Amino acid sequence: MCGIVGYVGPNNTLEILIAGLKRLEYRGYDSAGIAIIDDANTLHSEKRAGKLVNLVTALEQHPLPAGSTGIAHTRWATHGGPTDTNAHPHYGDYGKLALIHNGIIENFAELKEELLARGHTFSSETDTEVAAVLLGDEFAACHDLPTALRNVVKRLEGAFTILAVHQDQPGVVVGARRNSPLVIGVGEGENFLASDVAAFVAHTRHALAIGQDQVVVITDTSIEVTDFDGNTVEPVEFDVPWDAKAAEKGGWSSFMAKEISEQPDAIANTLRGRIKDGRVMLGELGTIDDEYLAGINRIIVVACGTASYASQVAKYAIERWTRIPVEVELSHEFRYRDPVLTPETLVVAVSQSGETMDTLMAIHYALENGTKVLAVCNTQGATIARESHGVIYTHAGPEVAVASTKAFVAQVAALYLLGLHLAAVRGSLPDDEIAKTLTELQAMPEKVTEVLASTESIPQLAHWMADTRSVLFLGRHVGYPVALEGALKLKELAYIHAEGFAAGELKHGPIALIEPGQPVFVIVPSPRNPQNLHAKVVSNIQEIRARGARVLAIAEIGDTAVLPFADEVIPIPLAPTLLQPLLAVVPLQVFAMELSQAKGLDVDQPRNLAKSVTVE
Ligand code: AGP
Repeated sequence: MCGIVGYVGPNNTLEILIAGLKRLEYRGYDSAGIAIIDDANTLHSEKRAGKLVNLVTALEQHPLPAGSTGIAHTRWATHGGPTDTNAHPHYGDYGKLALIHNGIIENFAELKEELLARGHTFSSETDTEVAAVLLGDEFAACHDLPTALRNVVKRLEGAFTILAVHQDQPGVVVGARRNSPLVIGVGEGENFLASDVAAFVAHTRHALAIGQDQVVVITDTSIEVTDFDGNTVEPVEFDVPWDAKAAEKGGWSSFMAKEISEQPDAIANTLRGRIKDGRVMLGELGTIDDEYLAGINRIIVVACGTASYASQVAKYAIERWTRIPVEVELSHEFRYRDPVLTPETLVVAVSQSGETMDTLMAIHYALENGTKVLAVCNTQGATIARESHGVIYTHAGPEVAVASTKAFVAQVAALYLLGLHLAAVRGSLPDDEIAKTLTELQAMPEKVTEVLASTESIPQLAHWMADTRSVLFLGRHVGYPVALEGALKLKELAYIHAEGFAAGELKHGPIALIEPGQPVFVIVPSPRNPQNLHAKVVSNIQEIRARGARVLAIAEIGDTAVLPFADEVIPIPLAPTLLQPLLAVVPLQVFAMELSQAKGLDVDQPRNLAKSVTVE
């Protein structure tokens, strides 16, 4: 995700744009930039890698001239690392046009080829610069920015919100959106465009929503919205119910709540542009080419915390699809156990931040011992990504809350893409089964949305359990790492002792913990599971109920067999066994968050923790 802002009006454009970026910095902070058309109708721009403060410092040293028209951007890098050159805005029409973008342009490579053939050159690695150069050519042909933008966006594939200005059309900011947010702030003699209302709510709470595949043109006194063919459409009016501070969280009570709600997009955006014609398209594997992947005979995944549980879920799928042994190791244990590594061992490092020192040290050990390393990372250009041979970026957007949620589902999705790609390369699965599984994976964002809409019973449950001293979590197969993740969430957020078990392990000791009233969450496999795991877990539930446990079952809609034995049933939609973790984890995240709030704790920044553990 990135933060974008546009403004036209009589007030201090630079100040308004920078303040808007500050409100959006949670959406991305790899780099920031600004473009303003001054009162002499000349375009001026500045951009810097790193946090917004770097841009502000540069502007203090080299102020831009005043102007009524401008756009600004804070980046969450997808294509191209966080550098000054890759920062937005990007330019077209020989520096007379500036463009900023949020999203992923999937067909940028072919468009770039076309523009190179026209004699254009490019300074950045970004997909955004391609859109800027293309828009510059269109404007040079028609001399009308709205028309030029409509011609360009009709050629783009993927997800995008674009804003642009041109010095030959001062007083105008144009914007367009597809599968990416854009809202209009309606002021008095001034108007705003932004990726979310946080950017302008301090100036106006009156807003207009822009629909899919629509173009907007603002001046200081006018707003025009059309479809991509130029037909006028009426945007939906609304008033922002939040104040400026709350708006940073998009109106959510916490970043945790916001990020839980973003999980459908986190999965969708991680899959976006990587599935075509029933095949996986992973473009960023660097030297980890298909020939190498065809020859590996072992995968070791190194990760910590939530990332390790996502990896444990993926282990079941990758082994099933590829018949390659997959070991998931805690990064901090890996390098001290003198692991046996061979050139045919692929080490995969999974890390949201890409800066976890334990995982970084683990890949250093692997690299020193001659293995190839593939990173799965949510932060473009992070150390672990840069030091690996290849990377699969999760596109979950910035995860601000310390407790990881959307990164978990994005990591599972990214690792599943790796597993299905490996299966295709090695011929271990028929093409039609790969295509079918990819289709099922692409249906998961909608199913996660259904789960998010059916968690209304959880806040009450959490309040009833506010004084709980211990909670257990049981799961089998891919449900087992979900149980571990659910326990971790509760430990982190509610400071309650919690433990996840493999349900089959109960009788080998943990059942001694069961006493009357002991709350136990159970992730129940689908009754359709071919290995009859469902019946085994229902038996486990009966065993703990017989000893007085209070059973809270996460179970498939329509699973009547579990009803007589559970005190609470939280329903999740039907899904294939290997995909169920993407659904079952959500109620556990929500429960931990609600219990934390019921106890009056800081859900975004729990005690003793840091978002990225950059020390060993
Ligand atoms: C998860 O909620 C925790 N914040 C923690 O376990 C985290 O997953 C772990 O530190 C790994 O972080 P990383 O993904 O950034 O490497």
